[in-house]
Amino acid sequence: MNVDCPASCPFVAGRSDPLDFPVGQLHRVAPVGSSGTSPEGVEVDETKRNLLKLLAIVGVVGAAGGGLVGGALQYAQPPVVGIKSFPTVQLLDVDGAPLTATKVNAEYNVTTPQLHLFYYPLTNEPNFFLNLAPVTPGGPGATGVPGGVGPTGSIVAYSAICQHLGCPAPAIAYYPPGTCSKTFTGTVVKDLPFYIHCSCHGSTYDVTNKAANLTGPAIYPLPQVELLWKDPATGGDDTIWAVGESTVVPVNGHFNTLQGGYQVGSTSQLESESPIILCQFPSS
Ligand code: FES
Repeated sequence: MNVDCPASCPFVAGRSDPLDFPVGQLHRVAPVGSSGTSPEGVEVDETKRNLLKLLAIVGVVGAAGGGLVGGALQYAQPPVVGIKSFPTVQLLDVDGAPLTATKVNAEYNVTTPQLHLFYYPLTNEPNFFLNLAPVTPGGPGATGVPGGVGPTGSIVAYSAICQHLGCPAPAIAYYPPGTCSKTFTGTVVKDLPFYIHCSCHGSTYDVTNKAANLTGPAIYPLPQVELLWKDPATGGDDTIWAVGESTVVPVNGHFNTLQGGYQVGSTSQLESESPIILCQFPSS
C-alpha cells in the first residue's frame, strides 16, 4: 500500500541507519583533524566530556560550599520522569465543567464529528473520549461496550497514539458512521460503520471491542483507558474519572505507559480538535 502521510505524521521519513549509541545521549562525529578533537575523526562523547567539565567545576565550587555540590550533581544526570502507578483523575468537559454521564449523553454521541481528546496518565499521552450511544434506538451505535461506562455502557476512551509507528491525533482519528463505507475482513468479517482509523499507513481499530485491530499494519490494539462512572443510582454524583489503563503493549513511543513524561494533574480537560479524514486502507 502506498499512502501519503499527512504533515502531522512525525514518522514518515524514518532514519535508515541504525542508532549505535544510547538514545538520549549527546553525540557528535568530529571532522578529521579538527581542532581539539580526535585526529582520526572518531566519535566524540560530548556527554562524558561535559560531565567531566561539570564535575571539575563542582569540585572547585564544593570547596566553597558543600551544599552547592549536591545541587549541581542533581543536573549532571537527566531526571527520570514518570509515575509509579495510575492516578485517579477527574475528567472535565471542553468548557471546564465536570463531565457527567448526563452531560456526555446530551452533547456527544456516535455521530459526533469533532475529536475530543484528554491527556492521561501523562501530559504527553492523548486519548480519545467517545460516546458510542446511538442517536436513535436501532440506529448505528453501541452500548454495553467492554470497558464502557455510563447508563448504557457506551462511554469509552482509547489512546490517541497509533500503535504502528506512533502517529498521534488528529492523523489517527475517530470516523463516525457514514464517513467511509467499509467491510473489514480478517479473522472476523465486520461491517462496522464507525471506528478509529490512522491516515498515516491505514491501521484501523474496533471502538466496540477494546480497540482491537481491524486492519494493519498495526498488530496491537490501542491501550484502553479505564473509566469510572459514579453512578447516581448508588449514591454517586454522575461524574466520570480516569483510573487506569489496560494495555497489551505500552503506548507507542514509551518503554512503559507510566514513564517518559509528566503526570497530569488531578483533573484532565477535554480538548476539541478536527480530525484528518483520508479513508485510506491497506489493500488486502
Ligand atoms: S502510524 Fe502507521 S498506521 Fe498509524
